[in-house]
Amino acid sequence: MSLTSPASEYDSFADIYAVWTDTAASTHANLPFYVNAYAEADGPVVELGVGDGRIAVQAAVEGHAVIGVDLSGAMLDLCRRRAVDAGVLDQLTLMRADFRTFELESPAALIALPYHSIGHLPTLEDKRRAMAHVFSQLRPGGRFIFDDFLMTPDLVAHMRRVQLRAEYRTAAGADALLWVASLVNEQEQTIRVVTWEDELDADGLLVRRRHRRLSLSWLEPAQARDLLTQAGFDIEACYGDFSRTPFSDATAHEQVWLARRPA
Ligand SMILES: C[S@@+](CC[C@H](N)C(=O)[O-])C[C@H]1O[C@@H](n2cnc3c(N)ncnc32)[C@H](O)[C@@H]1O
Repeated sequence: MSLTSPASEYDSFADIYAVWTDTAASTHANLPFYVNAYAEADGPVVELGVGDGRIAVQAAVEGHAVIGVDLSGAMLDLCRRRAVDAGVLDQLTLMRADFRTFELESPAALIALPYHSIGHLPTLEDKRRAMAHVFSQLRPGGRFIFDDFLMTPDLVAHMRRVQLRAEYRTAAGADALLWVASLVNEQEQTIRVVTWEDELDADGLLVRRRHRRLSLSWLEPAQARDLLTQAGFDIEACYGDFSRTPFSDATAHEQVWLARRPA
């Protein structure tokens, strides 16, 4: 497997994933949004890129079964452990598979792809393939929900800046700082997230620095609309945030798409 495949990137990201999501503003807003969507679904719910089960396990705790799909074995292990700790492992079905090729036993009522994860599919062609595949795995009338970055000049500038993301203790008890900065290529619509974890001794001296990298990309809203339409979806809504504010260029922080396979 290549060093930049999503599975290998997330295998090395797994042990900082909880710190990463706890310190990201959008995770606090997207969690209740997706848990509510899973609760409203009338039939099988699938989360693509289930990760450590941050959303799926919360939905399971609230009584909703979820099928979680992910390519990273380390992330699926975290998800399983989180479900065991919460006593809801029986509510989860975990599959190691790709967004573009997963096969369900029965068609889904809802397929969700939360937290900008569509951006792990590098090209427009990969995203087109994934949307067509999602469409094929939904039952007629079933829903597809995903969100993506809304890349504004302010967000690009913010991502490029070096930021101190968190101060915490590692699992081994070390005093640690997590830093991040991203290489953003506006023409290619790609983001290379570089994060580094500094472990410090009692005097604040650096004893270990570990870098991790993630490859991301984004869709412009018009591209997302075109891909959904080409795949055969009816677009129900596009929100500009997780409070369901209708999308507007002037006020949106995210793109949150709700689409339906025609009945
Ligand atoms: C940003 S995390 C999202 C995790 C979780 N949904 C959340 O909201 O916290 C993206 C996840 O997608 C997985 N992933 C990335 N590309 C994938 C692909 N092509 N097929 C399956 N899983 C993929 C990664 O391993 C990772 O666990």
